[in-house]
Amino acid sequence: MKTRAAILREVGADWSVEEIELDDPQPGEILVKTTAAGMCHSDEHAHDGTMPAPMPLIGGHEGAGEVIALGEGVTEFEVGDHISCSFIPSCGKCRWCASGQQNLCDLGAHLMEPGMMAGGFRHHSTAGEDLTPLLKLGTFAEHMVLSVDSAIKVQKDIPPGPAALVSCGVTTGYGSAVNRAGVTAGDTVIIVGCGGLGHAAIQGAKVAGAKNVVAVDPSEFKRESAQEFGATHAAASMEEAMELVGGITEGVMADSVILTPGVLTGDMIAPAQFLTRKGGTIVATAVANAMAMDVQLNLFEFAMMNKELKGCLFGSTAPRKEIPHLLSMYQAGQLKLDEMITNTYTLDQVNEGYADMLSNKNVRGVITFD
Ligand SMILES: NC(=O)c1ccc[n+]([C@@H]2O[C@H](COP(=O)([O-])OP(=O)(O)OC[C@H]3O[C@@H](n4cnc5c(N)ncnc54)[C@H](O)[C@@H]3O)[C@@H](O)[C@H]2O)c1
Ligand SMILES: [Zn+2]
Ligand SMILES: [Zn+2]
Repeated sequence: MKTRAAILREVGADWSVEEIELDDPQPGEILVKTTAAGMCHSDEHAHDGTMPAPMPLIGGHEGAGEVIALGEGVTEFEVGDHISCSFIPSCGKCRWCASGQQNLCDLGAHLMEPGMMAGGFRHHSTAGEDLTPLLKLGTFAEHMVLSVDSAIKVQKDIPPGPAALVSCGVTTGYGSAVNRAGVTAGDTVIIVGCGGLGHAAIQGAKVAGAKNVVAVDPSEFKRESAQEFGATHAAASMEEAMELVGGITEGVMADSVILTPGVLTGDMIAPAQFLTRKGGTIVATAVANAMAMDVQLNLFEFAMMNKELKGCLFGSTAPRKEIPHLLSMYQAGQLKLDEMITNTYTLDQVNEGYADMLSNKNVRGVITFD
């Protein structure tokens, strides 16, 4: 069939919205009509070269849609089901899936290879090029063919935007606070970088009962918005937060510091370390340049103050559990997801949407489809 998609052919080029040829879903795959796609910073990392990705690619890995056709033998879904994409697939059989750590599923190892999870290509440009859907999803397209391992059934009354946001950003940010930092009642938590992930981390910290939630972001819009989502204090930089956090904790400092800036750099670890209390936790969630090796850390203080530095992929939990769980919290009014969508765009406005993300106009931009 013919559909339209946003294609990236080389680092730094504009997204090119074009008609493409989409093959039928193969065994283990479904055809989905996309209803919404979230504009996560990770697509920008493919665009700016921070994260090497197979090109030409179809962008987008936050997304929701409706199943309109099934590959041979697919029993997990029916036509008409609504799905949320999961940016890490889960096979259900590997050691990690079997132990509830589906975010670490072995299928993740193939995510940056060209083509489909099952091999081959389903997406082709009109000029005959084979196209790779980013993270085997490619949500910046009117239709998607994806593996059943990358799709999670969601209730039909969930609106498309919220169903898209839990595909990546919200689940990752929320889980960075609740699962990885292990925020508990009365904690002081610092969120460094208050975009889509940061706003979800703030909400997670609040739901978990944090007493102080400090939003750190150079953007005034983000600092003000953060306070509408549960932040109790704000600072423009980690340096500025030092005195503030020292004051509100009587010098104890934060139980946890969660790093969700647009790009993580090695020089952010030492200031995060000094914002963390004895025995406290630093969670590194943001994507760093894939080739970067240098980190500044005061190893003496780190060991002698018994601190922890933890990585965090997809909120450090099982997406098949967490995505429906977070959507049920949204339905119960415990998570603000509609409010996180600052602006919506058409597929043709994808470049504009990313320019707005980079100039801090959006908590989250979302592409909507008819
Ligand atoms: N670990 C994972 O599983 C995972 C999943 C999704 C996204 N990510 C990554 O998380 C990061 C955040 O993604 P996002 O979509 O929320 O990005 P975003 O662009 O929406 O937000 C980033 C925010 O960081 C702020 N910022 C930039 N430099 C800063 C600094 N030095 N100090 C404090 N704040 C700073 C920006 O002003 C912005 O508000 C990205 O690196 C993204 O690729 C990781
Ligand atoms: Zn993402
Ligand atoms: Zn698995």
